[in-house]
Amino acid sequence: MSSYTQRTHYAGTLREEQIGQIITLNGWVNGRRDLGGLIFIDVRDYTGIAQVVFSPQVAPSLMDPASELRDEFVIAVTGEVCKRENPNDELPTGQIEIYATGLEILNRSEVPPFEIGDRTKSSEELRLKYRYLELRNPELQRILRLRNQVYQIVHNYFEEEGFVEIETPTFVRATPEGARDYIVPSRVHPGKFYALPQSPQIYKQILMLSGFDKYVQIAKCMRDEDLRADRQPEFTQIDLEMSFVQQEDVLDVTERMLARIWKEVKKADLELPLRRMPYMEVMNRFGSDKPDTRFGMELQDVSDLFGSTEFVLFQSVLASNGSIVGLNFKGGASYSRKLIDELTDHVKRYGANGLVWLKVSGEGLEGGTAKFLLDNEINGLLEYFETEEGDMLLLVADTWRRSRIALGALRLEIARRERLIPKDVDDLLFIVDFPMFEEVDPETGKPIPAHHPFTSYRLEDEHLLDTDPMAVRSNSYDLVINGYELASGSIRIHQQDVQKKIFNLIGLTEKEAQEKFGFLLNAFRYGAPPHGGIAPGLDRLVMILAGNDNIRDVIAFPKTTRAASLMDNTPSEVDPEQLMELGIALLATEETGEN
Ligand code: AMO
Repeated sequence: MSSYTQRTHYAGTLREEQIGQIITLNGWVNGRRDLGGLIFIDVRDYTGIAQVVFSPQVAPSLMDPASELRDEFVIAVTGEVCKRENPNDELPTGQIEIYATGLEILNRSEVPPFEIGDRTKSSEELRLKYRYLELRNPELQRILRLRNQVYQIVHNYFEEEGFVEIETPTFVRATPEGARDYIVPSRVHPGKFYALPQSPQIYKQILMLSGFDKYVQIAKCMRDEDLRADRQPEFTQIDLEMSFVQQEDVLDVTERMLARIWKEVKKADLELPLRRMPYMEVMNRFGSDKPDTRFGMELQDVSDLFGSTEFVLFQSVLASNGSIVGLNFKGGASYSRKLIDELTDHVKRYGANGLVWLKVSGEGLEGGTAKFLLDNEINGLLEYFETEEGDMLLLVADTWRRSRIALGALRLEIARRERLIPKDVDDLLFIVDFPMFEEVDPETGKPIPAHHPFTSYRLEDEHLLDTDPMAVRSNSYDLVINGYELASGSIRIHQQDVQKKIFNLIGLTEKEAQEKFGFLLNAFRYGAPPHGGIAPGLDRLVMILAGNDNIRDVIAFPKTTRAASLMDNTPSEVDPEQLMELGIALLATEETGEN
C-alpha cells in the first residue's frame, strides 16, 4: 500500500473561518478549467465541493501533474485556504479557494459514461448500468443519507416505545400478501421450494402468540408483481405488531413515529391526531382509497337528479343499480375536442365506458349530451356543482365502484395537467372502515380479501358474513400521504374458528388452509392474544420525504420495471450443473433482450 496525505477537512465544510490554514482534501476531481495560466479544479467528497487553484507563482512544480487531472481522478491535495477572488454566492464554499502546494494522484479514472453532476442529461438505463457512478451524484447521496436518518429515528423511537426488534426468516413458506412469490429451490429436499417473504406477516403474528407483546423490524419484502414508479420487487417495510391493542393504539403509535420523523427530517410539525376518514367517504369524495387530498375538485354523486331521465345511457346505468358521478373542472370549457378525447381515453383506461362532458356557457350547458338532458336536470347540475361560466362538468355513469375509480383517476389527471397540486404541503390521513372484501374472484366466485385473510371484521357486521359478505367492514386501515398508500395494517383474527371461517369464505378448502397456513392455525390453538399491526413502506416514506417520485432513487441498487439489475446483470443464467444438483430442467425459453 502506498502512503498518501490524509485529509484534514472535508471539501464541503470549508468556510472563511479556515482562511490562512494549510489543509488537505481527499476526494474526486469534479471538473477542471484552465484560465490565464492557472488551473482550477473542483474537489468533491460527500459533503460538497471546494475550488482548488494551481498557480505557477505558488507551486510551479505542480503545474504538470495538475494538467493531467481529469474528472473522477482521486486525489489528495494540500494547500492554503484563501479568500476567493471571484466569490460564488451560490456555493456554500464559494467565498474561499485553496492554493495548492501539494498534489498526489491516488487513482485515475476513465472518462465516465455520463456527467455525474447532471442526471437529466443521460438515460436512466445508462445510469443504472453504472449505478456506482450515479451514486456519486449529490442528490442520491442526500437521499441515501436521509434514508439512514429515517432508520435511526425509527430504531430509537421503537426502542423508547418498548418494542423488540426481531428478525424473521428470508426462506419461508408462501406468505399471504396476494402477489406472486419468488421461490428458491431446495437442494437438500429435491422438488421442494422456499418462498421469499412478501412480508413477515405470519411470523409477526406468531411472535405475538409467543408473548413478545410489541415487535418491530425493518424488513425486506419480495414480491413478483407488476412494477410501477412506486413499486420495487424487493422493498423495505417498517413492520410492526402489538398485542392487546385496539385499532386506535396502532394508529397512535404510527402517527407519533411519523411526527417524530417529520420533526427531525423536515423540521415540520405534523398536527396529531391525523385525520381518519372512512373508506366510503374517500371513495365518494375522491374516487380512490389513496386520495390525494391536497386539492379539491371533489366528486359528487348526482344519480338522484336523473330519476326520470330520457338519456338512455343514464337510464340503463341507474336501472342496473349503478351511479352517475361528476366533477366540476373549473375553467375546463376551454378544452378542445382533442383534449376532451384524451380525458375520455383516460377514464376508459380505468374501465369506464365513456365520459359525458358539458361546458358551462351563459345559456346553460353545452356539449353533445346536453340535448338529451331535461331542464330540471341541467339546473340541478349547475346548482350541485356551483358552476360558473367557463367551467366543464365531467360525468361518468357506471357501477358504483367503476364510476368512482374512473372519475377519481380523471380528477388526478386533470390536476396533473393543470398543475393544481401544491408541492410544498404534505397531507397525511388514515383511511379506516375498509370493506372486508372489495371484489369477487371471477373464476371462483369467492370474495377476495381487501387486505389479507388474517384481518378481523367489525363485530357488528358479523351477521352479514353469510348473507352479504361484500357489505362487511373490516378492522383494517391505510395511511395515505399525498396520494400514495404509505402503510396498511389491521387488527387480526386471533381465534382459530374465526380464521377457519374466513378461509372457508374466500374459498380455501380445509385441506388447502391446512397446507398453506396450518402452522398458524395450529399455533392459534394455544392461546393467541388479540393483536394487530401495520407496515409502513420505508422506500415510499423516504421518497416522499425526499420530495421525489421515483422509488428507484431511494434504493442504492434498484431494479428496473422489468425486475432486472442492469449493473450486475441480474437475473442471470446458472450453470447447468447447478440446476442438475437441484433436480431442475428448463423448458426452452425465449430471450426478449429487454430489461
Ligand atoms: P401491504 O401489502 O399493504 O401490507 O404493504 C404495506 C406497505 O408496503 C409498501 N409496499 C411496497 N413498496 C414498494 N414496492 C412494493 N412492491 C410494495 N408493496 C407494498 C407500501 C404498503 O403500504 N403485512 C401487511 C401489513 C400488515 O397488515 O401489518 C402488508 O404487507 O408502502
